[in-house]
Amino acid sequence: VTAKPSQPVWDPAQYTRFEREREQPFLDLVARVPDGVVRSAADLGCGTGAGARRLAVRWPDAVVWGVDSSADMLRKARAHSAPANLRLVEADLAAWQPDAPLDRIVSNAALHWLPDHARLLAALAGRLAPGGTLAVQMPSNDGAPSHRALAELASEATWRDKLRGAVRQPLEAPAWYAERLAELGLDADVWETTYHHRLARPSDVVEWTKGTTLRPALSQLEPRDAEAFLAAYAARVERAYPAGPLGVLFPFKRLFFVATRSE
Ligand SMILES: C[S@@+](CC[C@H](N)C(=O)[O-])C[C@H]1O[C@@H](n2cnc3c(N)ncnc32)[C@H](O)[C@@H]1O
Repeated sequence: VTAKPSQPVWDPAQYTRFEREREQPFLDLVARVPDGVVRSAADLGCGTGAGARRLAVRWPDAVVWGVDSSADMLRKARAHSAPANLRLVEADLAAWQPDAPLDRIVSNAALHWLPDHARLLAALAGRLAPGGTLAVQMPSNDGAPSHRALAELASEATWRDKLRGAVRQPLEAPAWYAERLAELGLDADVWETTYHHRLARPSDVVEWTKGTTLRPALSQLEPRDAEAFLAAYAARVERAYPAGPLGVLFPFKRLFFVATRSE
């Protein structure tokens, strides 16, 4: 992941349409994060704050930071009642510095939006306290029709200039993350899981990507262009995910790692 994507404009209502499906990877990630003495933790790219609130409940003696660069997502996070040990901060997670090293850093479905993962991993590892754990989940679904359709359309003559920078670079392979984390002195478990989400109808795949993958493209286009682009995208994607007896099965691959610094 090297190129800097344009900053997406997040839409909390669209993002939370598939809340249950989006929450499962977070739960699977944090199930493998150890407890122990946790005095400080951060959820980087915390979005509407559901995960950060769970962490604050799980570690009541810790200060838990929820960091996000989107004022809209944080507004929704602040509208919830939250444990007193949760602190929400509007900041770029790559630049944000805690006042003391962190015992746990969690980041769910956020780091794939940032460029230069070699540098980013080094920066995050540098914010861990001795014995601290970095736990990350990122979508690794770049080869799926839902994601390929965006890349293919954005490279066509009609859209190429208008969508420059709107398609993020694919993630590196799991082995790449395993090697970088080992070089940083972290002991890491790395794995991938493909979730087979059951959606009601083919257009729900488009509703899903409208909340995430399509955000940079849609926020970069004039409204009329956005409408035309979405229609072209929907025509491709809905063909690729036909309805069957279970509705539409939407396979979605995600990359995880849980990496711990030695004491
Ligand atoms: C797909 S949402 C995930 C939100 C939350 N972690 C969850 O699991 O529901 C990605 C979030 O990452 C945030 N984000 C993207 N780039 C960021 C950056 N450089 N610094 C801080 N937050 C960022 C976005 O604003 C958005 O809220």
